[in-house]
This record gives sequence, C-alpha cells and structure tokens, in this order.
Amino acid sequence: MAHDRRKADHIRINLEEDVQFPGLTNGFEGYRLIHQALPELNLTEVETGVAFLGKRLQVPLLISSMTGGTEAARAINRNLARGAQARGIAMGLGSQRTGIEQAETADTFRVRDLAPDILLFANLGAIQLNYGYTVDQCRRAVEMTEADALILHLNPLQEALQADGDWQWKGLLGKIEAVCRAVGVPVVAKEVGWGISEGTARRLAEAGVAALDVAGSGGTSWSEVEYHRAPTDRLRRLAKTFADWGIPTAETLLMAQRGAPGLPLIASGGMRNGIEAAKALALGATAVGIASPFLKAAAASADEVIETIEQFALELCTAMFCAGAGSVAALREPGRIVRVF
Ligand SMILES: Cc1cc2nc3c(=O)[nH]c(=O)nc-3n(C[C@H](O)[C@H](O)[C@H](O)COP(=O)(O)O)c2cc1C
Repeated sequence: MAHDRRKADHIRINLEEDVQFPGLTNGFEGYRLIHQALPELNLTEVETGVAFLGKRLQVPLLISSMTGGTEAARAINRNLARGAQARGIAMGLGSQRTGIEQAETADTFRVRDLAPDILLFANLGAIQLNYGYTVDQCRRAVEMTEADALILHLNPLQEALQADGDWQWKGLLGKIEAVCRAVGVPVVAKEVGWGISEGTARRLAEAGVAALDVAGSGGTSWSEVEYHRAPTDRLRRLAKTFADWGIPTAETLLMAQRGAPGLPLIASGGMRNGIEAAKALALGATAVGIASPFLKAAAASADEVIETIEQFALELCTAMFCAGAGSVAALREPGRIVRVF
C-alpha cells in the first residue's frame, strides 16, 4: 500500500541523505545560560527528573514519533523502546494509519512488552480527521499500543509538497476538539518540523489539548525529505524552495508559551545536545524531543539508543551544574538565561 511505501521511504531517506535544514538553525545559539563559577551544588546531586502527563521522566527527554508499519520499523521501534525503558524517558510511535488500515501491521507498533513503565504516545496525522477518521480510529491507535496519550501531528506543508497529499485542511480544529473531549487519554498536538505559532497554540489549547510539541525548524527538514521522493521536476523545485520554511524551535517555543500559557510544552526540532536542551527547559519547556539522532542509533542497536540517551543526560547535567541549577525547576528560575543576539 502507498502508505507503507511512504514509511519505508522515510526511513531510507532519513538514514541515507542529508535532510537537515540547509540554512535555518533551531535558534538556541541566540541564547546563553549564565555560567556560575560558584554553583554551590554537588554535580552528583543534580536532579533531571520531571513529571509529565502523570508519569515521571528520569531525564526530560522524548524520543519523537517516527515509525511503524514495516519489518524494519518494528526493529527500530523495539530498539527505541528498550532504550527508553532502560533510562526512564518517553517515546512516541510513528503514525499508526497503516496499523489501523492494515491490521496485520499493527504489531510493528507494539512495544509495551519491552517498555512497561514509560510514557508512551500513540500517533496519527490530525488531517485524517478530515478524511473519514473519527474518535474511533483515535481510540484504536491508543488501544493497539497501550499508549498513555495520543499525539495528533499537524503537517500542512508536508501534505502540500506531495502529489497525492491531503490538501483539505478546512474545519480541522473542531474535529481535534471533538477527539480531545472523547478519546479518554490526553491529546498532544505536534508539528513535524515547522513550528506552532502563537495563534495556533491558543486555538489548540482552547480545543482542549493537554500539551503541545512545537517541533520547530532547524533539524530534520521534511521539505528536504519530500524533495528526495518528489515524482516530478515541478514538485522537486517546490520542495527545494521550501527547504528553509518554518519557525525555528527557540522562537516557536516562546510563541507557544505566549499563546498557551501554563500548557506543558515539548521543545523539539533540531535539538542535538544537552546544552540546547537545558536552554529549552530554562525557556519553559517541560521536556525535549529528538527524532533523527535516535533513528540512526536505533538502526544500529538498543545499546546505541541507550548511549545516545546517556550522552544527552550527561551534557544536560553538566549544563545544569554550571548554570547553578540543581533541578529542572531551578533551571526555570528567572535570570538563568540571556538572549545574546
Ligand atoms: C524517519 C522519520 C519519521 C517520522 N515520522 C513521523 C510520524 O509518523 N509522526 C510524527 O508526528 N512525526 C514524525 N516525524 C517527525 C519527528 O517526530 C520530528 O518532529 C522531526 O523529525 C523533527 O525532529 P528532529 O529534528 O529531531 O529530527 C518523523 C521523523 C523521522 C526522522
């Protein structure tokens, strides 16, 4: 089916091609945590844990939604889940449309046997709600994977770049609101790498989402991914033109905070080390999401996934120590971070 092929293409292109934003960065280089020569902390006592949607993350990190639906995707999901369980972080599954429309692939999304304790997110494209999906399919996605919450991803540009994309986006917000009311688990709205504006954050909060994953620009560029899949010259040129579209992650994080004050926010999109993560937390994020580096790690082994988490946790702890913040709450205190340009 076309959807399976798309998911296989996504893994292959993300592993083999350079599909990072060519020009835009995530924007965190424009901020600096203030170094404390006298932190008055013991490095070994820095506490990175946070509470998110009723569960505890030992490190404020989410493996962003990526895959499922094929045998290669099953292996990747299982390596990711082993890593997430071992280090107590959250994990998102890839879009489960295939699992719903071809029941025999549902198993490629199942990881609860390996990760009984983690905060686990089911995932569907919100746009499917304009193409016949209702709260029933959303519930099935959650039940299929024994997930704690549902991510609905928003990807208008990605759809616009596809010859057979879903282009009818009118009237979607009301349907998201209906899912939030009836699905029975928290709903998180997420972009896929172009960010969420202040007004969109406000409307999604009013619709009842429990959290937002801003998924801003500066990391994986889906325009670049679609460039490699485009069937015609015209679509290839279109994708290239939009290679640097979107709201950089640091900016969209602040926009979302203004639009949805008090709502938990995941900072994602080009987050590549623990210093950037510490900056995002200092700017108000509850957790940080990372996709592409985890795809590469999981394509190798579960041990590589664990190593990626360990490195990130070490960098985050070191940044918190040198910023004089013994906890994520302390990192969020005013005066920890400054804008440098
Ligand atoms: C191979 C791959 C597949 C993805 N599939 C999905 C998906 O099914 N649903 C979704 O919400 N996001 C999906 N994403 C987007 C990521 O969750 C993330 O928002 C984006 O890649 C930006 O993060 P990064 O810069 O850390 O890669 C996918 C990303 C990759 C690399």
